[in-house]
Amino acid sequence: MRKRFLWLGLFAFVGMSSGLVSMPGWLATRAAAQSQDDVESKKIVPYVPTPQEVVDRMLELAQVKKGDVVYDLGSGDGRIVVTAAKKYGVKAIGFEIDPERIRESHENIRKAGVGHLVEIRQQDIRTVDLSPASVLTMYLLPEVNLMLRPNIWSQMKPGSRVVSHDFDMGDWKPLKTVELKDNSTWGHTLYLWRVEAKK
Ligand SMILES: C[S@@+](CC[C@H](N)C(=O)[O-])C[C@H]1O[C@@H](n2cnc3c(N)ncnc32)[C@H](O)[C@@H]1O
Repeated sequence: MRKRFLWLGLFAFVGMSSGLVSMPGWLATRAAAQSQDDVESKKIVPYVPTPQEVVDRMLELAQVKKGDVVYDLGSGDGRIVVTAAKKYGVKAIGFEIDPERIRESHENIRKAGVGHLVEIRQQDIRTVDLSPASVLTMYLLPEVNLMLRPNIWSQMKPGSRVVSHDFDMGDWKPLKTVELKDNSTWGHTLYLWRVEAKK
């Protein structure tokens, strides 16, 4: 009897993982709900897009140039990395947890024709190795900026630039602060830092 159950279990496992037997509807629905729960539990910042004219100013402030590698942490619909690639011809990688935003990003990458330069990784921003980036953009929250600050300092190379939309980094004084209004006259603040050589 026990042996028969073991065989049944093995049959179901091999069948489902090989695609020979499809997952029952209720199980698929539960799996989808579970993975949405996983996404929600990792989300530490809500989605609020940066207006395009502010995106443009963020990249200008960072003085993006040929050879830079731009990372956007919590990349939303991917417009920051798409704009970096399209305007400056640089490699740009967005890190995003939400599959819906990732789908929108892929659509924006396709429309802009920058698939050879832009990549979106579904990854928790708290686990990203920042060492390959020479420009980092963020539109997160004050406490999230502070949480990421040690990684920025220890992983990014001297001379790398960091631009944050609306939120500063506590007592790490910015090199420059820019106040601007978007097309709907809403005010925004941009902060620029330069990573210094480790002492
Ligand atoms: C305020 S939006 C900024 C979007 C984009 N960078 C911009 O400026 O238009 C923050 C983004 O971070 C994403 N996010 C939140 N928590 C995250 C996490 N732990 N890992 C990766 N992305 C996350 C959200 O899904 C959202 O798209």
